Amino acid sequence: MNLLRPMNQSRSVYSPVVSNMLQKWFQNLSFNRCFSRDIRQGLVGMVGNTPMVRINKISDETGCEILAKAEQCNGGGSVKDRAAYFLIKDAMTKGQLSAGGTVVEGTAGNTGIGLAHMCLAMGFKCVIYMPNNQSREKIDMLKTLGAIVNPVPVVPWDDPNNYNHQARRFAESLTNACWTNQFDNRANKLAHVETTGPEIWRETGGKVHAVTFGSGTGGTISGVGTFLKEKNSNIRVVLADPQGSVLYNYFKHGKLERTPGNSITEGIGQGRVTENMKDAPIDDAIAVMDVDAVNMTFRLLHEEGLFVGATTGLNVFSAYELAKQMGPGHTIVTCLCDTGHKYYARLFNRNVLRDMELLDKMPKIYHQYLHD
Ligand SMILES: Cc1ncc(COP(=O)(O)O)c(C=O)c1O
Repeated sequence: MNLLRPMNQSRSVYSPVVSNMLQKWFQNLSFNRCFSRDIRQGLVGMVGNTPMVRINKISDETGCEILAKAEQCNGGGSVKDRAAYFLIKDAMTKGQLSAGGTVVEGTAGNTGIGLAHMCLAMGFKCVIYMPNNQSREKIDMLKTLGAIVNPVPVVPWDDPNNYNHQARRFAESLTNACWTNQFDNRANKLAHVETTGPEIWRETGGKVHAVTFGSGTGGTISGVGTFLKEKNSNIRVVLADPQGSVLYNYFKHGKLERTPGNSITEGIGQGRVTENMKDAPIDDAIAVMDVDAVNMTFRLLHEEGLFVGATTGLNVFSAYELAKQMGPGHTIVTCLCDTGHKYYARLFNRNVLRDMELLDKMPKIYHQYLHD
């Protein structure tokens, strides 16, 4: 084929075939320069594909590979960014939400922060209902992120004035609005079926023997578990449950009975089985006491330089227990849920830990990280 064509027959010196090839090549060149795989598309592009981190000291000690997805590296700073993005995408797909619309959720924690971030980036308004016993910092943070915050009296789930029901009713009263309903909307679980699970599978080259996570809505453990079990049904999915939650007894003994105590952890533990948790392929459950979750939080800081919250301490403690149960040579994956900053005032405060009778149970070497 004559690829070159005379200059006077075309503005290009090349035939259309070559000209097209060259154009594509130049386009790719500039695409690669501006949008290489390493460059994320704005905040939404910063959801998922978080680093997989080896927790060195406890891996060496147990002879296992204890790995964690560093979920604090999501754009909004926590594992809940994945759910937030998928919940909004779900409402858009269902036609409930379009440009300029309002996202409403009942949440006191990371989901609200994730939603508020996504709303700014995607051009939506964000309205958050939360119990009025939450800290000033949480309210201020959400307001800083552009959300309208409605603290309402603390009442149980079966009371129509529970903050979640108020959020639903408010969303229903608006046009172009959605109640994202993180607990019972399975788009939350889907986020982990479509992103976290596949990332863990890919990053371990399929060589993962167990995963373990705490559960708030159940989205993370249920979604990751569902994906990985389809790949290899031998992968063990183990719930890490804080004191005061019903899930440990539910999965161990089939009854919705709380374990004793209130936990210092925030965002995990449950009083019911949510839609996201229904059918979760859980093989076993470990009840993690606050003392163990907190001591592991400080161990991660002291040994690894990882500044994280107590839900991360709980996750990693559970992975450490599993490693000891399973023996050397296994790969166990969990996640670092977020950073310690949000919990600085309580979890890193000497007096709070003393009041909760945790201070005396903490190795003295960790006391250097506490403030008064
Ligand atoms: C810090 C933290 N860790 C873990 C979780 C639990 O994740 P999931 O809701 O997917 O069960 C949450 C949920 O809010 C959280 O805020």
